[in-house]
Amino acid sequence: MRAATVVPGQPDQARVDDVADPAESDGALLVDGLLVGVCGTDYEIAHEGYGWVPEGHDRLVLFHESMGRVVQAPAGSGFTAGDSVVGIVRRPCPQRCRPCAHREWDFCATGDYTERGIKQRDGYGSQRWRVEPDFAVKLDPALGTLGVLTEPTSVVAKAWDQVDRIGQRAYTEPSTVLVTGAGPIGLLAALIGVQRGMQVHVLDRMADGRKPDLVRQLGATYHSGSVGDLALRPDIVIECTGFGALVVDVLQHTGRNAITCLTGISGGSATVQLGADALNKELVLDNDVVFGSVNANRHHYELAATALAAADRDWLAQLVTRTVPLEQWTEALAKKPDDVKVVVDLQA
Ligand code: BGC
Repeated sequence: MRAATVVPGQPDQARVDDVADPAESDGALLVDGLLVGVCGTDYEIAHEGYGWVPEGHDRLVLFHESMGRVVQAPAGSGFTAGDSVVGIVRRPCPQRCRPCAHREWDFCATGDYTERGIKQRDGYGSQRWRVEPDFAVKLDPALGTLGVLTEPTSVVAKAWDQVDRIGQRAYTEPSTVLVTGAGPIGLLAALIGVQRGMQVHVLDRMADGRKPDLVRQLGATYHSGSVGDLALRPDIVIECTGFGALVVDVLQHTGRNAITCLTGISGGSATVQLGADALNKELVLDNDVVFGSVNANRHHYELAATALAAADRDWLAQLVTRTVPLEQWTEALAKKPDDVKVVVDLQA
């Protein structure tokens, strides 16, 4: 079968390979891979050297945002042939630290977790893959291949779940949400905010193109420009750009008792001048919380699958702006200005 493979940090080594059928040790579910989604992490692996090949291998099968159809499932696994599924990205660390032992591998304390398509495990970018039933999540069949949005949605489902838990510290009533960045993560974070009945504002650099329209279709408000120009003091911020300078700016413009969740993984090394004392004073006097959030556990994938099943399908379909066949998958890494989510068709 064919697979998208890379050597981390060597873009000229990114290619399609003939690889062996998936090893039974990968899991008891055999799945026809239909689509994989492309994200910034895949670019960083192929071009900038993030990512680790599995021990004893010299190449990594790329991609962690999956969607496939079950071909074979053992009796009693909870799955049957034909089910639509997504594979979970992370696996617990071998030491089974306390969070990993409690199935919260997204909070792994040792850092020795592994990740499909990222860290020491082959990804889902092959025409067939295997997965442990415990690390597969069944999708609403009506979602079809839009189920490929489940992994990015799991990341923001976790962010929202953490915001809720932190919010339980006091009888506050958050109503205004600011999402920074109108890429796939930002748009999916906005979707969940709207589903919760919040007033959602999305801030992005782009003044036109499809992003403002996608935000308006959701019933949220679109802004382009700087945070300081917004006439609002959000109760909740879901930061989805990873631009450090914007993060610092956002923290100075939140409301009282605000909760800011950072989800963007910065690629740059920007520095800014910071009014550190003023920022500290504002965070303290406002009871502000700022926290980072990465990855997702099974519970978050289930929340994501529910959020997607409840979403308007036509809106979701507009998030997938480009589909590239497996044989040309490296083209999917080239960033085009109006791209939202680019996917690779593993069967084309
Ligand atoms: C993935 C996460 C992963 C992180 C760091 C992100 O792109 O969505 O699942 O934990 O990269 O490797």
